[in-house]
Parts: sequence; C-alpha cells; structure tokens
Amino acid sequence: MTMRAKPDELRAVPQAEFTLRVNGREYPLRVDTRVTLLDALREQLGLTGTKKGCDQGTCGACTVHIEGKRVLSCLTLAAQCDGREITTIEGVGTEHDPHLLQEAFLRHDGFQCGYCTPGQIMSALGLLSEGRAGSPEEIREYMSGNICRCGAYENIVAAIREAAGDHDEAL
Ligand code: FES
Ligand code: FES
Repeated sequence: MTMRAKPDELRAVPQAEFTLRVNGREYPLRVDTRVTLLDALREQLGLTGTKKGCDQGTCGACTVHIEGKRVLSCLTLAAQCDGREITTIEGVGTEHDPHLLQEAFLRHDGFQCGYCTPGQIMSALGLLSEGRAGSPEEIREYMSGNICRCGAYENIVAAIREAAGDHDEAL
C-alpha cells in the first residue's frame, strides 16, 4: 500500500527557534529553516538598511558583519547565526554622530542612488579592520565583491582612503 502524505503534511516546513543578536539587541525568532539572514533581518526584524540586490552572492549589497567579519547575508541561513553577534548598517554611527567612514562617503560623494551604500560601508569597515586599505589598488581588489551600478567607484575608493588615514591615526 502506498502511504500518501496529507495536504497539511505537504505544506509543513521545518521551523527553527533561535535568537539573533543584532546591534546589541536580542531577537527571539521562529522561522523556516531555509530563511536567509538577509530575509530575517529585513522581514522579521524590520532592519531594511541591509539591501537585497542579486540574492545570490554576487553584488555585496547585503553585506553585514558576523563576529566582526564581513559576510554576505543572502548566502547565510538565519538559523546558522543563533547567538552570534551580528552588526548591520543600523549599528554603525547615527544620523547625528556618523562613523568616520560614513562622513568620508559624504565628503567624497561615494554614492549616487545609495542602494549599494550600506553594503559598501559594511564591507569597507571590514577592509579597514583587515588592514587591506593600504593603496587604491588594494582597496579596489578587496572591495571587488561590492558592485555599484551607479559607477561611484572612484569616490568610494577616495572615501575609504581618507577613512583609512583617519583610522590609522585613531589606532
Ligand atoms: Fe547578497 Fe547580492 S544580495 S550578494
Ligand atoms: Fe547606486 Fe551604488 S550608488 S548602486
């Protein structure tokens, strides 16, 4: 005899319960195990600063930090982040007290439409802490995963160069 799944069983999807720690706050969640960190941040937590571009790991718009390392949140399952410290663009500076890198982006016009900018900033922060901002060539190499469809690359590199100088002096 063939056992047929009931319609309810067909619809059932595995759920995971865990806690996301984002920008110093804890968010208990119960979501489909297949939900990406990107979708959890935007749709469950309402943190829409992290952008969805390609949703397949090629544009960098979704870059966040996990335990201080830059990662692509569209390629990371939310459930894998249980209890790990996540930082998004909402956790970097404020409107009235921006991070020096954000100030440098403003000074150098490091954006046009701004859609890629949160990912650029998160990736550039990673670059600074990795010590990979020693020259324009190095910045281009290690920022190459962040696409800007407006083509603001020259200004982005200039902003990171400036922030790298400030960053080195601040250490
Ligand atoms: Fe994640 Fe493009 S949305 S790399
Ligand atoms: Fe428009 Fe980069 S500023 S995509």
